[in-house]
Amino acid sequence: MKKTFLTVVAALLVGTGTFAIASGGADLRLAPAPAHRLDAESLQRGARNFVNYCLNCHSAQFMRFERLQDIGLTEDQIKDNLMFGADKIGATMTVAMTPAEAAKWFGVAPPDLSVISRVRGTDWLYNYMLGFYADSKSTTGWNNLVFPSVAMPHVLWELSGPNRLVEQEFDDHGKAAAAAIAVKGLVRLASAPGGKWIVQQVDTDPNAPGTMQPAEYRAFAADLVNFLDFVGEPTKNKRISLGIIVLMYFVVLFALVYALKRMYWKDVPH
Ligand code: HEC
Repeated sequence: MKKTFLTVVAALLVGTGTFAIASGGADLRLAPAPAHRLDAESLQRGARNFVNYCLNCHSAQFMRFERLQDIGLTEDQIKDNLMFGADKIGATMTVAMTPAEAAKWFGVAPPDLSVISRVRGTDWLYNYMLGFYADSKSTTGWNNLVFPSVAMPHVLWELSGPNRLVEQEFDDHGKAAAAAIAVKGLVRLASAPGGKWIVQQVDTDPNAPGTMQPAEYRAFAADLVNFLDFVGEPTKNKRISLGIIVLMYFVVLFALVYALKRMYWKDVPH
């Protein structure tokens, strides 16, 4: 009995650490997004990054510019730094390009990013920003480890460098899985023809570095994802702050009620 139990526990422990793949599939391990949605400075940097690098193709049509006051920006800061058109502060974050034009240029219209963080989650978005690499076989010249054959070009390539795909091939699934586990951050383990396995990761190209150091680029991506998470649910920050106040209220209430209880029971013999 005890032995069976131990075997089950061991199987569970091993199971969480390994890459279990059905034949023909691929397995992806995402790096956790270091996004902190109460970090106002990170959100402000993310807003700036979004407006400068994403808003020319993607809209965030459920987001009004004035709402950015919630992340600590003043109306003037928003107008001077984040709004390039003659838009009113109450305008939503839309783009000049029509979906039909966009579809003509990219083959697919860039989706609205208002609620993308709720669809994909912050980890996925963070790794998507880290997953781009140069690929001469694709029509755009770019590919993405997280979203294979994506129609979006690597718009941040000057910052990160073009990056390249690094592949290691193994005959044996166990060895490939061990190599994948040893990789820090984003990694993909896939089956290859001839019963082989490949471990893929995106790495900087030493001959073509970006203007940012890798850690700096990861922080840039984290700020961007943090902002997209805020855009997906702007009132969540208020809920979190309110939650903290409510909990503090309960702590104070408990202390008072407890003091009262002691006072009531002081004279009762027990
Ligand atoms: C040059 C235009 C362009 C720019 C600039 C751009 N994108 Fe995209 N993006 C696209 C296109 C086109 C797609 C659709 C890709 C597809 O479905 O294959 C896309 C898709 C995406 C997706 C995937 C949506 C999904 O889940 O299907 C995300 C997330 C995204 N973009 C985020 C960003 C962010 C963040 C920025 C700013 C750093 C950005 N994009 C800048 C064109 C662009």
